[in-house]
Order: sequence, then structure tokens, then C-alpha cells
Amino acid sequence: MIVPGASSQALAAAVATAMDEPLAAVEYDRFPDGETLAAVPEFDGGRAVVVATTDSNDAWVELLQLQDAVREAGAAEVVTVIPYMGYARQDEAFDAGHPVSARAMAKAVSTGADRVVLVNPHEEALTSFFDAHVTVVDAAARLAAPLPDDLSDPLFLSPDSGAIELAESVREAYGRGETDYFEKVRHSGTEVEVTPSDADAAGRDAVIVDDIVATGSTMSEAVSYLRSDGAARVFAACVHPLLVRNARTKLERAGIERIVGTDTVERDVSVVSVAPNVAAAVDAVTQ
Ligand code: R5P
Repeated sequence: MIVPGASSQALAAAVATAMDEPLAAVEYDRFPDGETLAAVPEFDGGRAVVVATTDSNDAWVELLQLQDAVREAGAAEVVTVIPYMGYARQDEAFDAGHPVSARAMAKAVSTGADRVVLVNPHEEALTSFFDAHVTVVDAAARLAAPLPDDLSDPLFLSPDSGAIELAESVREAYGRGETDYFEKVRHSGTEVEVTPSDADAAGRDAVIVDDIVATGSTMSEAVSYLRSDGAARVFAACVHPLLVRNARTKLERAGIERIVGTDTVERDVSVVSVAPNVAAAVDAVTQ
């Protein structure tokens, strides 16, 4: 049975269809002191596949409760799919007295899951934080499908060297084009500086590929640079379209043509589903 988190209802339904498994109805309650409750009353054993993006503190609590609820109801196996793992960017202690939040979350999830599936986690090294077995799904190549067929002399760029593999995956899936990357310096949570890549963007269509668009600071800086360099159309492609605060406005003002993302985070730009990748990964870890 597929058990959906509140932030992953469309993806969980698509996974249920892909795997030909029933989709559970989750029930919610909130107590007078503010505590939340997520329950799966109809679950009656077998394998439970919890699909829950953790893009908020409430979503993290819900995920832990869903895992525990199905375990309490006699689940033979709990496979937890975290399409977008929040706190993943806090993967080290940034200063004295700081937590490694990603590790704390991974440990908590591991108490209730037999297996974990992560879609494009911010860093592959995050997998070592889990005590449970982790399968990583790379869905970046799917981002090529919604791009127009007529891209002119396309240039696929990542905003920093760390994301170059994502840009290469999309370029390969698209079938033609050049790949390059920016150098990025982050000054604060919302202030980012990108420095030019080697490639000349003048007159070309560009696709900037990243794992996450959160505040849009990184992406809008890169879009602005390309537009001032004479790029024709500039597209943004990301696995996790968080788009918090005024990210959309920043991107529009920078001159973006279109942003495309996957349904790891359910937004209006989530035009690509990772359901086939997730279904394959769940089956693989279960065998
Ligand atoms: C950073 O390493 C990530 O790959 C993204 O570039 C970053 O998380 C995007 O954040 P924002 O949209 O807030 O600039």
C-alpha cells in the first residue's frame, strides 16, 4: 500500500498507479496544544511505501508518524520515499554549537524505516547519515522532456561546479548542445554571486539546471548574467522547485523564459513526474 504525505499526494497517486498498489487515505487531527496527528486507519499489514516530501517541520513530523502508524498496524516492511529531503543543505555544522541537521533527520527516519529512497538528495554523501539502507534516484534526465524541441544551439549550464552532472544529464537526454558551469559564491541565504562561464551565450538558447530552486537567488543571478550576455531564451530546469518567498518574481524580473521542475515538490511548474523512477527503486530495494 502506498501511504501519501500531505505534500506528496499527486506523486504518491502516480506511484500507486505505476506499481498497481492501493493508495491509503491518511486522516489528520490537531490537538488543542497544537500537536498534529497523521493516521492510516485502513492499513492492515504487508508492505507500506510512505511517500512524503519533507519541505516543512510539520511534514517531518507527519513522516515519522506515518512510519510509526503503519509499523504499529503490523507492516511487514516500511519503505520510506523522501522525494525532496528538507534540511539536506544543513549537512555540516556551520559554526560552533550548530547541529548537523540533515544527520539528525536521517537518524530519526531510520528508526522507523527498513529502506529509504531519496530523489536527487542535495549531496550523495547524505546517505551515510541514515542507518537504514538508502537507494538514490537520479531524475534529472527527465527534465529534458518539457524543453522545446527547437532550442537554438543550446547551452546547458549549472550555477556551480557541483551541479555540472545534472546539466550533463539533461543535455544528454535532450540529445544535443554544449555543457558549462558558473562559479558561485553565496554571501548569505538570499545573496548569491555567479561569475561567468567560459561559453559564449550570445544568440543561443540556454538551460540552467540545478537540483533546488529555493529563494531563486542563484537561478535569477545566472539568468540575469546570460541575458546580459545576449542569450536568446533562458530556461530554468530543477529537480526540486521549492520556489519560496519571492522566487517567482526574481526569476521573472531576471528574464526567464520558463521554469520546469519535477513533482518531488508539487508546484504549478512540476510538469515532470519522478513516479517511474521511484516505482523502480522501491521494487529494486524490495527484491
Ligand atoms: C546549492 O548548492 C543548490 O544546488 C542550489 O543552488 C541552492 O540551494 C538554490 O538556493 P536558492 O534558490 O535559495 O539560491
